[in-house]
Parts: sequence; C-alpha cells; structure tokens
Amino acid sequence: MARSIVSTINGRPAPGTAEWIEDSSNPSRITDVVAKVTLADAGTFAAACAAAKQAQPLWADIPAPARGRTIAAIGRIVEANKEALARLVTRELGKPYPEALGEVQEIIDTCDFFLGEGRRLYGQTVPSEMPDKQLFTFRVPVGTAAIVTAGNFPVAVPSWYVIPALVTGNTVVWKPAEYAAASAMALFELIQAAGLPEGVLNIVFAQGQATFDGLEQALEAGTLDKIGFTGSTAVGARIGELAGRYLQSPCLELGGKNPMVVTPDADLELAVEGALFSGFGTAGQRCTSLGTVIVHESVHDEFLAQFAAAVSAAAIGEPTADVLYGPMLDEKFATRFEEYLGWIQPYHKILGSSAVGRINRENPRAGFVGDPEVGLFYHPTIADGVRPDDALFQQETFGPIVGVTTYASFDEAIALANAPGYGLSASIYTNNPREVFGFRRGISAGMVSVNNSTSGAEAHLPFGGNGKSGNGSRQSGIWVLDQFTRWQSMNWDYSGRLQKAQMDVAEITADLDFRLRD
Ligand code: UN1
Repeated sequence: MARSIVSTINGRPAPGTAEWIEDSSNPSRITDVVAKVTLADAGTFAAACAAAKQAQPLWADIPAPARGRTIAAIGRIVEANKEALARLVTRELGKPYPEALGEVQEIIDTCDFFLGEGRRLYGQTVPSEMPDKQLFTFRVPVGTAAIVTAGNFPVAVPSWYVIPALVTGNTVVWKPAEYAAASAMALFELIQAAGLPEGVLNIVFAQGQATFDGLEQALEAGTLDKIGFTGSTAVGARIGELAGRYLQSPCLELGGKNPMVVTPDADLELAVEGALFSGFGTAGQRCTSLGTVIVHESVHDEFLAQFAAAVSAAAIGEPTADVLYGPMLDEKFATRFEEYLGWIQPYHKILGSSAVGRINRENPRAGFVGDPEVGLFYHPTIADGVRPDDALFQQETFGPIVGVTTYASFDEAIALANAPGYGLSASIYTNNPREVFGFRRGISAGMVSVNNSTSGAEAHLPFGGNGKSGNGSRQSGIWVLDQFTRWQSMNWDYSGRLQKAQMDVAEITADLDFRLRD
C-alpha cells in the first residue's frame, strides 16, 4: 500500500499549494509505489524556516543535558524500530537488508555519541592578562538550519546533521530526497515521538529548484542561519555561492572519485575483497564508493584476474535476499548511470559480467537473484585501462562501475589518486609503513583507509572532503559541533576599575641579555 506523504511544519501537515504529487517507488519492483509525495513550493519551504526560527529561542532555553536526554530517547526509539525502518529502506531504496540494518545502526550510534554532548558542550575558562578579570568561551547555537539530503543514505546521513543540530540548540527544516520520502517520513516520526516541541524539527518535501528558491527566500528574510547539504558537486557549488552571498558557510558533503592504490606487497585477496565491497556495494551509489583502482604494474594482472572473478561470481538482485547489491536507487539514477556507461572507450577492457548495462531477459546475468525485468538492475562493470584524460577516470560515476589503471612509481600513484580533483575518501593496500604515511601525507582526501576499502566510515570520526568533495566542513564526532555552534567569548572584569588590555598589564622584567658562561 502506498502511503500519502506531505510536509510537516510546526507539527501540522502542510499541504502547501502543490498540485504536484510524485511517486516514490520500490526500485526492485517498480510497480510497487511506496509513497505518494505531495511536493511543496518555495514559499512553503520558506514558511518552514520561519516556523523553525520562531521555535529556536525556546528550544535553546531548554538546558543542554535535557536536550541530550531527548537525543537518548530518539536513539532508543529508533533502536526499538530498527527492523521496521530497515525493511522500509530496503523496499524504498533497494538496499540489501543487512546494509539497511547497518544504516539504521548508524543513527543509533550517532544518538549514542551525541546524547552525552548534552552534558558536555564544553566551553573554556581562560586566564586574563590582568588581575580580577576572567575570560570564558561558550558554544552558542547558530539558529535555524536547513538540511538538504540525498536518498542513498536516506536516514543515516540526515541523522548526522539533525542530531548534532538539535542537541546544540538549533531548530531544523529537513528536506529529504523525494525518492526516499517514506523512509525520511518514518525517521521524522520516530524523532517526533521523543517529544520535540512544535517547530523544532520540520520536514519539507520539494523539488530542487523550489528548495533552492525557498532557501534564498529564507536567507533574505533572515530566518535561516545554516545550510547542510549532501549531494552532487554541481548543486553544492550553487548552494555555496548562495550561502556566501549571505556571509554563511554551508556544511557541504559532495561527490567523490575515490581511489584505491594497490602496492606490490599488498595482500591481494584483501584488496580484492575491499574493491568488491566499495566498488559494487550499494550498487556503487555511496559518495565513498570506489572510483578507480590504481594498481602497481607488477601485480596488475593478478589483481585484475582475481577482481574480475570475484565480481563475476557476486550475487546481484533482490535486496531482501543475500546479494552484494540490489537495484539503482531510483529511475533518475538508472538513466544517469546509462550516460556514464557511454564513457566506456574501445580501448577499455570490460570485465565482471556477461554484459554491460541493464540486466534483463536479452541481457541476462548468470546467477541473478529474482526477476530482473521488474526492477532497475544493472550489470557490474570493471573498465581496465582507464587513462587520466578519460571521463571515466575524472568524473564520479554513481553506479556499479570501477576503473582500473596502473602505476610504476609511488609518486605516480599519488598523483593519479589526486588527479580527478575530488578528495573524499582514499584507500591504500600495503604492508610498508613508509607507503602508509607517504600516502597519508600526499593524498588530498579528507578520509584515508589503510588495508581497508574507501567505504564504511564509522560514525564518530570526521567525515568530509576537500576539493570537489566539499568546502572543508566535517560531519560526525565532536568535529561537527563547529558546524552547528559558534564560539562566543566573554570577559568579566570584577576589579571595579577600567583595566585596559595590552596596556594595564603587569610586567615582569627579564634580563634578555643573560648568557651562560663557557
Ligand atoms: C554517503 O554515501 O553519503 O562511509 C555516506 C560510508 C557510509 C556513509 C556514506 N558510512 O560508506
């Protein structure tokens, strides 16, 4: 049964003016409509920001430890609904069920981490250069945050924003991806069940342009203080530009072309396992998915043979079964992936499956689990021999395709790994400490894995990228606190007189000419 979903502002349904109703369908069975989503217009988005702005002072007045207890409650409520939420994620986005469970676990982990932040949110006491005066620092909430998220992690990634934003005293307008509306609405309901006051968390479903216009209206009206965005590099750049006009710096989590370097002394079996998981897990639709394997020429043939064998043998299909990956997230992603497949060149050696493109009766895949005709399933593709000026080498290709290239010197490996200009996640397989730290120093990525794949970051380390992957903002762990709070400093002079900094400072005279005698 399809559920009807509308935006919720101030705890009340906000049908808006929308004539638009969009279906969110099950990508492994496209005739199964999971939700009918009424999309809001820009004005509705801006109204949600205004409501959140109004609710913010009262929410910030609730002592942080009490807000932390609400985060604890959210974690427990999500935990109690773990399987139900994971089932919905599998149905709506086609993630294999164990991965969907992992995704929900990431919300619980995030809550576990931030519930204690309610009792910390430390500021500092700082000595003054003058007597009878004390200096302090405080973290203050930025105000109202608009969180715009993608659907590849429909509930985990939103929680990376929403949970720390709430615990630090901000109010939120969350705009999830339309094709992930049912999962998003389910998480919204679970969070609301923790008893958030009206207007503290609002959810708005809207298309890209309406969202962009709504952000602009809210920025102009002064009802929006922070934007968090997870999505493409192109849209991230537009959001950065818009926010910059209002002197704001958004939290941007964008694409990646994540490299994996395989060195001559690497454990090849381990590297193959990592490449299989990060290249093809989630059908290659993570921002941390493997883009290109950069393998030393001396082990290229052996690596490629093992990798191709592993990919060819992998089970693909129905995400409720035991498969490596299921369908594309949504029709949009399937269409775009077909464009990326057009970047394959005659000189690329194609491996990994019996065909390239959509899996169907004419284009079958051995061992496919289920009926490929009913969903958006794609063959896994390895393109060996990609070159630095290939689009396949330079651009993110959100889908089940991995490029392979070779290197001769270690410096060349690092140069190739940095060449596409993204900088999210990078991995190296080696047993040489010199290469481990040489790679860490030379690579532009915000996240580096050693003898581990590019995917699967833990929820309490800084998550984020550089270059085309982001503007340097970091999510997760204590580092995201700097996104949702601002430092306020305070000085308190209780001497009863005006003591002037830098001028009325007691001085101890030093003999700077003092030298030891030989
Ligand atoms: C994303 O694809 O936007 O590190 C996030 C990982 C996951 C998160 C990916 N924990 O692969």
